[in-house]
Amino acid sequence: MDSIRVKGNGSLKGEIPIAGAKNACLTLMPATLLSEEPLTLTNAPRLSDIATMTQLLQSLGAEVSGLQEGQVIAMSSHGPINPVADYDIVRKMRASNLVLGPLLAREGRAVVSLPGGCAIGARPMDLHIHGLEALGAEIDLRDGYLHAKARKGLKGAKIELRVASVGATENIVMAATLAKGTTILKNAAREPEIVDLVQCLRAMGAQIEGEGTGTITIQGVDRLHGATHRVVADRIELGTYMLAPAIAGGEVELLGGRRDLVGAFSDKLEEAGVEVTETAKGIKVSRKNGRVRSVNVRTEVFPGFPTDLQAQMMALMCTADGVAELEETIFENRFMHAPELMRMGAEIEVHGGTARVRGVKSLKGAPVMATDLRASVSLILAGLAAKGETLVSRVYHLDRGYEHVVGKLRGVGAEIERIKS
Ligand code: UD1
Repeated sequence: MDSIRVKGNGSLKGEIPIAGAKNACLTLMPATLLSEEPLTLTNAPRLSDIATMTQLLQSLGAEVSGLQEGQVIAMSSHGPINPVADYDIVRKMRASNLVLGPLLAREGRAVVSLPGGCAIGARPMDLHIHGLEALGAEIDLRDGYLHAKARKGLKGAKIELRVASVGATENIVMAATLAKGTTILKNAAREPEIVDLVQCLRAMGAQIEGEGTGTITIQGVDRLHGATHRVVADRIELGTYMLAPAIAGGEVELLGGRRDLVGAFSDKLEEAGVEVTETAKGIKVSRKNGRVRSVNVRTEVFPGFPTDLQAQMMALMCTADGVAELEETIFENRFMHAPELMRMGAEIEVHGGTARVRGVKSLKGAPVMATDLRASVSLILAGLAAKGETLVSRVYHLDRGYEHVVGKLRGVGAEIERIKS
């Protein structure tokens, strides 16, 4: 298995281009199942999760091409669809469950494996199931698979989510585009990836209002047509690279970054003493002198501080001046990076959903192990600030969500390399 070697090497300077959002792309791709006409995505990121979704859609009978050549994914679902999402693919990636809503809407039937346990918590699917049942689907669980049927087709309904789940909102919105009548979804997730999905569905002919607010209204239509859609910038990749100069010092411009995608996160960086400015090309982040200040962070649904940036923010707090409390409210087991950061000399205590980080003057490089996608990049960020060499193993997690991480960080002067096993 490959690993990544990173050496703390002083401050960073230059530009990093921000890719299209992994999480947006993973919900936009299954939308191809909603139409027999082609759906083309531009600005798609080149990641192993996208390759997994490609494989899943192909196994369902969709044609998907283009990822190898670049950032354009051309899809078409004009042929017969096999509505069975197999465990062998679904277990690799939880977002595979986003084919459930589109398959039900298109075929009136779906058999989708449950994704199984996930390293960052239980991550149930009850909200997806209840939402689709409210639209008229009958769903039961047999042999680890959700068997869903909508004999008389889906019908619009009023649905209120117990938790503003991103995935449940996406599945319900996609299913409701082809349902008969009106669906009103309350306590819907407001994440930018939902806004991006709705903009794409609208380009395909769907009638939807209220994206980006807590209430989304969908007026079902008989059919959707083809479209071309540009994937929104990846706010988690953006936030991650905003942290690189914050941790190592220096000045880096994140090309294509938008502050509205990372508002609460940017506010926290500024509170910590990091300069964040909007530019014509994106966002510039700089830290010139001295240590950053400790700040408390509580993860929340959008527009709050994203859970997907909590591990990276913890890496910054490891060398901040003072004590920071990081409270994780979205997932119950998302501090697996803490013991790894402690191997590098960080002082962290975890009590339930809160981690207390007492900043130290500097970290020391060490061999560490990536435990999940965002945890792995937090270790690389910590390595940028550490004395000596940090060797991050199990980097396949990283390939799921960060394209060219080594190249992008080298481009701003980091000493980092991938070691092939
Ligand atoms: C998406 C993102 C993930 C991010 C998360 C929260 C993708 C592919 N993944 O995941 O990177 O960390 O949003 O911003 O977009 N829940 C239930 N029942 C359900 C569904 C969810 O109780 O049926 C709970 C979860 O356990 C969790 C919370 O709701 O505690 C939020 O999860 P959700 O928003 O659904 O996350 P995902 O869509 O899986």
